[in-house]
Amino acid sequence: MPAETLLSGADSGKNLGRNEGTLPLLDVQGLSKEFDLPGFRLFGPKKTVTAVSDVSFSINRGQILGLVGESGSGKTTIGRIVMRLLDPTRGSVTFDGVDLTSLSGRALRRHRQRFQMVFQDPYASLNPKMSVREIVEEPLIIHDLATSLSDRISRVAHLLARVGLSRHDMERFPHEFSGGGRQRIGIARAIACAPDLLVADEPIASLDLSIGAQIINLFSSLNQTEQMSMLFISHDLSVVRYLSDNVVVLYRGKVVESGPTTGVFDNPAHPYTRMLVGEGGTLRTLEPDTDKNSDTKGFCPFLSRCSEAIPACSVSMPALWQKQTSPDAAGPHPRTVLCHLAQQSPDWILLDSSVTLIQGSR
Ligand SMILES: Nc1ncnc2c1ncn2[C@@H]1O[C@H](COP(=O)(O)OP(=O)(O)OP(=O)(O)O)[C@@H](O)[C@H]1O
Ligand code: SF4
Ligand SMILES: [Mg+2]
Repeated sequence: MPAETLLSGADSGKNLGRNEGTLPLLDVQGLSKEFDLPGFRLFGPKKTVTAVSDVSFSINRGQILGLVGESGSGKTTIGRIVMRLLDPTRGSVTFDGVDLTSLSGRALRRHRQRFQMVFQDPYASLNPKMSVREIVEEPLIIHDLATSLSDRISRVAHLLARVGLSRHDMERFPHEFSGGGRQRIGIARAIACAPDLLVADEPIASLDLSIGAQIINLFSSLNQTEQMSMLFISHDLSVVRYLSDNVVVLYRGKVVESGPTTGVFDNPAHPYTRMLVGEGGTLRTLEPDTDKNSDTKGFCPFLSRCSEAIPACSVSMPALWQKQTSPDAAGPHPRTVLCHLAQQSPDWILLDSSVTLIQGSR
């Protein structure tokens, strides 16, 4: 069932320049974000923290991209930039051929109905004073998708049924629901305008295991039945493996490995991914990076944790390499790795020809 069916005939993007061609739905290129650190300085440059550095990836229509990384690696920052809740310092975010960073005001609002966010903490993201009906119908009102009360009630009932709630829940309030119920309300609100893209930031992190599994199945069903594309942010690798077509592994704001999920998890190329995947393919929970604020200019940021380092690692930043294989069935997402070890295998080609290899050139 296409996304439009959720709205049964409403304008869910048909008049918003939806491009059904071969362009990726979302294309993120060279994204960087530096935050100014608070504090008064008379002289010298402002102090900043680099949350995200030169991140690129794309999501094709109907596909799910998993974004994994330990706490502080920049996942939420990327999600918020994609949602236009934050401006990037550098880089572009192109949604269905439109540069989102160039939009503002009405044009941005019009496009916004096509990409929506599901938050980690459903309680904090729902207004406790609004009933479930008011919460779920709000986007329909903002985007002028249902004008009469009876139309809105029927759409809200349909959306509640879609996320596993009942029409009798309409006049209840968020505090009357469990965490899983609240997350279902948040998802109903997010899909109210039948978006093409959902950005889900750790949507099951605050839920217990069995409730989390039900919510994951709901995401999977929205993807398979309504072809909703997703940027699925998580530190739970097994969930990302289950849901995603492609995966991006972040370390300290940089993409250290990316590609089709099966390839990356079955045959990880970066020592960090290898550490996460562990022996026999068991996916580990990511540990917090306790050393993340140390200065790593001029050498690999992963050096202090890497058991496979070669001499080049301590004297130069690794460059980005791409695997010379045809894309697998999951789609045309290239397989990339940011690691000096790639120069030891003819399977990888250097993406930036201006980089001088330090040692071990083929
Ligand atoms: N508004 C801000 N001002 C200053 N620094 C920020 C701000 N937002 C994020 N950061 C910093 O940017 C880095 C990335 O943060 P981000 O929240 O994107 O990480 P994350 O991967 O989502 O982590 P978590 O898994 O804990 O949610 C962190 O070092 C964080 O402290
Ligand atoms: S560049 Fe070197 S230190 Fe960094 S991950 Fe690769 S092998 Fe390890
Ligand atoms: Mg986060």
